[in-house]
Amino acid sequence: MKKLVVLISGNGSNLQSILDACASGRINGSVAAVFSNKASAYGLTRAREAQVPACYLDASAFADRAAFDCQLMQEIDAFSPDLVVLAGYMRILSPQFVAHYQDRLLNIHPSLLPKYPGLHTHRQALENGDTQHGTSVHFVTDELDGGPVILQAKVPIFAGDTEEEITARVQHQEHAIYPLVIGWFLEGRLVMRDNRAWLDGAPLPAQGYASD
Ligand code: GAR
Repeated sequence: MKKLVVLISGNGSNLQSILDACASGRINGSVAAVFSNKASAYGLTRAREAQVPACYLDASAFADRAAFDCQLMQEIDAFSPDLVVLAGYMRILSPQFVAHYQDRLLNIHPSLLPKYPGLHTHRQALENGDTQHGTSVHFVTDELDGGPVILQAKVPIFAGDTEEEITARVQHQEHAIYPLVIGWFLEGRLVMRDNRAWLDGAPLPAQGYASD
């Protein structure tokens, strides 16, 4: 059975959707371990409840980002994952970490990339008067939120929406598309090659897979 390691920093609702998809067989694989850089992350509780090792690493105990990531890599590699999944992991990765997991490192970012890399994406969409927003699953490269997009889900923004309402609408979509993409990868249908995402042997367009 193929193995995932999931990195989180917070609530872990995406982690939950991945755990549920593994349990139901929608993902043909299992979560071998969950790592958090926040001791209080509720996702650690979700992992324990699913009988998955839940590991916390304290960044303040390390001299710098490279030292922290070096330890994190060692601990991740003890689980021999086929894929490393960032699910609300809010720490910048060192180039060494990205290189080490090159081509098997996924992230979900709450915007329609390349729009709004970085933080506060929902607030920016709202303040800019956007009528459309969404989320993107992408391979991770050295460029922050800049790797090849695999799949996006779009949501409308209605007049009078609050940031909380938009966040909930986006996360509802995230819980559907992230397990789907992880499933594609573990089935060998999805690869990263020549800095592009390929699905079923064909390169995906810049905005990722589009069914229509
Ligand atoms: C998700 O919405 C994810 O897109 C976002 O954090 C949230 C985590 O929620 N990720 C980023 O902003 C990464 N740049 P969760 O902990 O409930 O899965």
